[in-house]
Amino acid sequence: MHRTLKQPSDEPSTPTVHAVLEATVAALVSAGVSESCLKAEYILSRALKCHRLELPSRQNRELSAGQAGQISAQVERVLAGEPIQYVLGDMDFMGRSFKTDSRALIPRPETETLVENVLACKDVWSLEVPVVADVGTGTGCIVVTLALEQPRGAFLAIDASPAALELARENAATLGVAERIQFSQGDLLDGLRSGSLDMVVSNPPYVATAEIETLQADIREHEPRLALDGGPDGMNAISKLVPQAFDCLRPGGWLFLEIGEDQGARVKSLMKKDGFGQVQIQRDLNGHDRIVRGQRL
Ligand SMILES: C[S@@+](CC[C@H](N)C(=O)[O-])C[C@H]1O[C@@H](n2cnc3c(N)ncnc32)[C@H](O)[C@@H]1O
Repeated sequence: MHRTLKQPSDEPSTPTVHAVLEATVAALVSAGVSESCLKAEYILSRALKCHRLELPSRQNRELSAGQAGQISAQVERVLAGEPIQYVLGDMDFMGRSFKTDSRALIPRPETETLVENVLACKDVWSLEVPVVADVGTGTGCIVVTLALEQPRGAFLAIDASPAALELARENAATLGVAERIQFSQGDLLDGLRSGSLDMVVSNPPYVATAEIETLQADIREHEPRLALDGGPDGMNAISKLVPQAFDCLRPGGWLFLEIGEDQGARVKSLMKKDGFGQVQIQRDLNGHDRIVRGQRL
């Protein structure tokens, strides 16, 4: 057990939930970990297989050696700077649990806004079998959610990272849609036929290379660089993807992109220049430009 979680020698060797929660919070606070209480509650509630709000009613329970060991190992990982979502091994995306580890970016709430916008696109979902590509699928949170919400769709999940694709496949299998998604390793939409898609959705890497050094350490040091780094101005993937998407979409098809908050005007003008119509920017819950959509006319 981590030294900060040790009980004084005159206390029972099987610590209670209350004692371990207190010791865990203290260890995280003293290491300067953000949201220490919340993270400690997540770790303990996982070990106890309960919701964190149920912890107070269990505070006098004694932990088994296995539970104490699991808690101790997870606390060590958080103290070493790993994101809590990787330590816990899964996270909620639009009400469903996705396996989450260092093979792919941790799904963000902004991407839930992207998926909500995509699901509202009646032009596409009213087709008999809409063909949809998720470019840079990561955990598969976008494509798996779309496949679950739109049972008639046919889906393609593309990523340059074989490890991310493997994780996306695992999530699709766990959530029961693996058969409806074709997984493919590739560079954006390279090699796809002209006019073969009804929709392209992407949360591409869009952080400018120099900005990565300014991100929180847990992101910078633990999330895949390939998922973040969008080149000198953050626009490398977007600039290549927009004309590719125009070519791969059938007339009337839609492109939906998640973008950096300072990229709205640039992406909008790029899409218009490449021939997209009805180009619109949508803000996220914090009021930042976050989603751009456009239709291939
Ligand atoms: C910002 S992450 C998005 C992950 C996931 N779609 C999400 O929203 O949480 C970008 C993803 O694009 C992938 N990627 C980066 N460059 C790529 C490229 N040139 N072609 C295909 N995928 C790429 C990364 O491996 C990563 O999984």
